[in-house]
Amino acid sequence: MQESVLQQHLYKLVLADIINPVNDQLASYYKDGAMLLKRSKSKSSSGFYVDRVGKRLDLIKLVKDSECEILDFRGKLVVPTFVDTHFHWVQDDVCLMPKDNLLQWLKKYTWPSESKFKNKEYTKLKSKLFAKKLLSVGTTAGAVYCSIHQHTVLASAKEFVGDFIFGNVLMTMNSPDYLLQTESDAIASVRELSSKLKKRYALTPRFAPTTSPSVMKMSGKMAKRNGSFIQTHLSETINEIEYVLSIYSSFAKFKKVLTYTEIYDRCGLVTDRTIFGHGIHLSDKELKLLSKKGASIAHCPTSNGPIDEFGLGSGLFDFEKCNANKVAWALASDIGGGPFLSMIDVMNSFVYQNKRAKVKSATYVMALNRATNAGAKILKIKRTGNFKRLNWANFVVIDDIFSGRGSDSGEKRLEAAFKTNSGIKARKKTENVILKTFYKGNCLFGRDNG
Ligand code: GUN
Ligand code: ZN
Repeated sequence: MQESVLQQHLYKLVLADIINPVNDQLASYYKDGAMLLKRSKSKSSSGFYVDRVGKRLDLIKLVKDSECEILDFRGKLVVPTFVDTHFHWVQDDVCLMPKDNLLQWLKKYTWPSESKFKNKEYTKLKSKLFAKKLLSVGTTAGAVYCSIHQHTVLASAKEFVGDFIFGNVLMTMNSPDYLLQTESDAIASVRELSSKLKKRYALTPRFAPTTSPSVMKMSGKMAKRNGSFIQTHLSETINEIEYVLSIYSSFAKFKKVLTYTEIYDRCGLVTDRTIFGHGIHLSDKELKLLSKKGASIAHCPTSNGPIDEFGLGSGLFDFEKCNANKVAWALASDIGGGPFLSMIDVMNSFVYQNKRAKVKSATYVMALNRATNAGAKILKIKRTGNFKRLNWANFVVIDDIFSGRGSDSGEKRLEAAFKTNSGIKARKKTENVILKTFYKGNCLFGRDNG
């Protein structure tokens, strides 16, 4: 008893090289740094929050040995845990399946694989494994797509540690028999889950081709009443856009609709709690509509990347145009469209693809900001995203073995820690570079060599 009381340190002091993302242009770099964490006294939210970040030699003077646990990661890199604003946890098995194009990949591999989640035992097992995988890649927040089955929402909401929102995809038309729902079942599932999970729920029409407009309309009202989010796919590939418009042009109420975004808008789904996945081929008019309504985009570079880079070949997201139109966006893995769950692979691909296209403003500093702060803001998660005072101490420890350690620049140090070769084997390694993941100051994942 006595011993456990003594071990309840009031402070933890993290010693490491620390990078704190501030915005797209700035990440504060504390080489030989330290971060002082303080135990929360609140009964409703236990854990440690950030008290201050600074130089090791300054902060170490502030603590008394008796009340502070030292976490010594000197020489290693510490950054905030990641926010993945769009991923399908039920697609873990199709990430590396052949991707000729989106619609074929869905029909041939993804939908059959998602149908296995009808089985509750299978779902339970897979959700436990996926929860571990999330921690092992340092992701502790995000927006989650489940299968049509309600229990996939409940299982993942129970197992995933962190700040996630969850939604069951709705499929009431143009879907295979084994995933097709009746409209009333789909609406009932939203009524039940959104009133249960409230702000942790995301109404998730899979995309306009598979979800009837009446279902989108009615369930949208329920989501709004419960303060839930809305997430769906928008303007991912050219084939998909043509397919969507061909379907909706035959619906009397949508005859005059010219764009994909307007379809969702007519159903009341373009809101300041809506996160659209992709948005690769949006017109100026569509971007203006998103901006006016305060909707956001989850940008998934690895999923959108070329087919020979294990993506779906959707194209390059124009983040500069998105910024010019004041549409919020953040990075996402879109697993299984994206091949790897690691946000390090996502950040790398974002920088690599843009540099290749001569978009020079895409940096690692920007990528980190968009994999942390930007996602937290879009998902309205409080006290997370960076190491601002009073934010929760959510961070990863990375063992970078590259040349940038001596650098004084945050950009160089991030590049050194994250950058891999472009081949599949090298990219796969990004799933193994996190040594430890801390959530609210407690270590929830550790690799042996850490
Ligand atoms: N569009 C509709 N469903 C999906 C999906 O599961 N993945 C991707 N990338 N796009 C979609
Ligand atoms: Zn997706």
